[in-house]
Amino acid sequence: MKTIPIPCSRLWMTLLAMIGCCLVSLANAETITLNDNWRFLRGDAAGAEQPSFDDTQWRQVRVPHDWSIEDLPGQTHPFSKDSISKETQGYMLGGVGWYRRTLSLPDDVASKTVLLEFEAVYMDAQVWVNGQLVTRHPYGYTQFILDVSKYLHAGDNIVALRVDNPEPSSRWYSGSGIIRPAHLQIVDKVHVDPWGAAITTPTVSASRAKVHVATPLINAGDASVAARLISRIVTAKGVEVARKEASAALNANASQDIEQELDVAKPALWSTEAPNLYTLVQEVRIGDRVVDTRSTRFGIRSISFDAKRGFLLNGKRVLLKGGNIHHDNYMLGAAGIPRADARKVELMKAAGYNAIRSAHNPASKALLDAADELGILVIDEAFDMWSVKKNKNDYARFFKDNWQSDLRSMVAAGRNHPSVILWSIGNEIPNMALPAGASEAQQLAEAVRSLDATRPVTSSAHIFGFKGTDEFINKLDVAGYNYNPDLYLDDHAKFPNRVIYGSESFSAQAFNYWYPTDSMPWVIGDFVWAAVDYLGEAGIGWSTASPYPWHLSMSGEIDATGLLRPAAYYRQVVWKTGLHPLSAFIEVPFIEGTLPDRETRGEIKGWEQRDLLDSWQALGGRADFYNRKVVVYSENDEVELFVNGISKGRKHVDRASEYTAEFSVRYKPGELKVVGYNKGKPVSQWIYQTADKPAAIRLTVDRSHITADGDDLAYITAELVDAKGVRVMREKDDQPLTFKVSGAAVLAGVGNGNPVTLESFRSGQRSTWRGRVVAVVRANKTAGISTVEVSAPSLPAASASIAVGIP
Ligand code: GAL
Repeated sequence: MKTIPIPCSRLWMTLLAMIGCCLVSLANAETITLNDNWRFLRGDAAGAEQPSFDDTQWRQVRVPHDWSIEDLPGQTHPFSKDSISKETQGYMLGGVGWYRRTLSLPDDVASKTVLLEFEAVYMDAQVWVNGQLVTRHPYGYTQFILDVSKYLHAGDNIVALRVDNPEPSSRWYSGSGIIRPAHLQIVDKVHVDPWGAAITTPTVSASRAKVHVATPLINAGDASVAARLISRIVTAKGVEVARKEASAALNANASQDIEQELDVAKPALWSTEAPNLYTLVQEVRIGDRVVDTRSTRFGIRSISFDAKRGFLLNGKRVLLKGGNIHHDNYMLGAAGIPRADARKVELMKAAGYNAIRSAHNPASKALLDAADELGILVIDEAFDMWSVKKNKNDYARFFKDNWQSDLRSMVAAGRNHPSVILWSIGNEIPNMALPAGASEAQQLAEAVRSLDATRPVTSSAHIFGFKGTDEFINKLDVAGYNYNPDLYLDDHAKFPNRVIYGSESFSAQAFNYWYPTDSMPWVIGDFVWAAVDYLGEAGIGWSTASPYPWHLSMSGEIDATGLLRPAAYYRQVVWKTGLHPLSAFIEVPFIEGTLPDRETRGEIKGWEQRDLLDSWQALGGRADFYNRKVVVYSENDEVELFVNGISKGRKHVDRASEYTAEFSVRYKPGELKVVGYNKGKPVSQWIYQTADKPAAIRLTVDRSHITADGDDLAYITAELVDAKGVRVMREKDDQPLTFKVSGAAVLAGVGNGNPVTLESFRSGQRSTWRGRVVAVVRANKTAGISTVEVSAPSLPAASASIAVGIP
């Protein structure tokens, strides 16, 4: 969602200035960000919910915020050997934390409805307003909106949150705190329900679309009113294409659903290639007075799923080229800063994926917005467990009393996003092996269908071939299979109407998973575990013990900093994306492996990937006396390898060779080149030059202009290069770097992708790993220039500038 400045009326200017913000969001003209000015304590505090509590010694933080990623007291890193969750949380700690914030409200606040909105708080949040408990929201990944009107008064009010993340909770790094944005809405007593209208597109064709809008109107006042709802559909360029008006007699303290149907002629359909979007602009009027306005983005598209034709988007078959992702943002921890979430979607789109499975919790608003804008399909997933726990302190503790409201939250937050095509009610739910599993699946599936009948319900299965588990799967509309491509054929024979997708698959077996998907119409796609590397579940596949301080999974095809790993290039070839029709990598010999505890080297069976480097360099020691294995991935017919201009052989590449060729060559410094041929003609090449010693730090900024909204981010990559600009990737040449950010932005985090380093994500001190560090800077709220200076003990300092401004 883009944030734009909107001229405010005098009253609202005063109010917004008091709250400390004059930027309101496009999606909802009354939403005021509550991201700044929180006081925070890591730990528990008796009486901190009371307005009179003295929090002046607490730190000031900006949310989204994750305390688990911050350095521990007395340390220069966040890791603890004593962690109860160990590698599950990457040796970072949960615990209890408190947040407090003042809300300064105008004199007429009593005549308004005031809503507090948290997009996610991990976990078990208790919220007090002026010392009164408003709610307890246990699930750490769902949005909640609270009507706090009755707890407030004009002037200063105190909002306090106690957040409790007892370990072990999630099976991956959860982070702790107000991990997604927070908002305040101050609206007239007569307003659109804060979850907004439900927009569906029951009829879609090239010539015409019907857009159905169901809008719950709330009258929280004590008198009945006659209201009008004006709904308009406008294009991305602001051109109105449809308009409907409805009258409603609203009883006091009641709500009423208003149904409207709008026609759009020659709709610009939303698809993965052309993600066209519309906005529904709504006004609630009482007489001539506009009492509420609301803008909701949506897309016009049709989806259908069946075992004969697969998944159709606007009537055309689309195979889901998918990746699983978790919610953390590596060096930012679990802080779901919208730009960081959007960047993950951008990275995946650019790498060739067209679908995301939001494992194993509802995706953030920023992620869904980015998926809408970029044309990425999303499976939005609710839970990793139901009533049977996977970890001692996970959400199973709260499931019974909360699953319905958490499903409601997921569906309400996601339903107007055209990118969302499936609702998943769970991942590897242990209940599927229990007698009640199938009826529970039915209950959850029906609950979702009653909230949104336009998308099928799925869940990912991990137990197959039993009567009970088949009954469970048969309660779903679409079946997710984790790691079982061999069943696709047999299960089709048993259940000819079953629509299947690979909800999780091994990266190193990309070929074996994709080819059934490619050839069986009832299989609609494949989602690798994982597309983007993540914190926690550390060392999965690389190490059974993952001893301290392993903190990254290392299963992502895109590494934690955003760099494509060799597996991502291979996938591009398997998917025939044409993005990199040829790529080549050098196997790290066993004796020179630099990652500790690599137990499965040479035998890749699970979530690990081959340890391949994208450089041609001396490794030192005995390794340089042996031949190197060069692994080539290609969409071309033939590939030829040259070392310093001398051909070392030419090989055919095709489906039979799984689009891979391997060469064994002696290391000689200089140039390694691979040429790709189609029908005998050279069409592509891939070149490495051996790097000399490091001579400079090269900085690359992903966005040189960012917005002065306190939240926008720029990512700066620092690489060691030799005098000719060739990247230096030898670990023995790695250097400690220091990042200093001045001017209109601040340092938000640094990371290098090393899964076992004991360094801070926050301090600005970080060594290169394999020649590289990525830093993130966050805009302040005042426009200006920000300078990033990077220094190293034995290299000239480098600097980069970022313009921070009003768009
Ligand atoms: C799966 C599970 C995922 C992740 C993956 C790799 O079985 O569903 O959440 O744990 O294994 O470890």
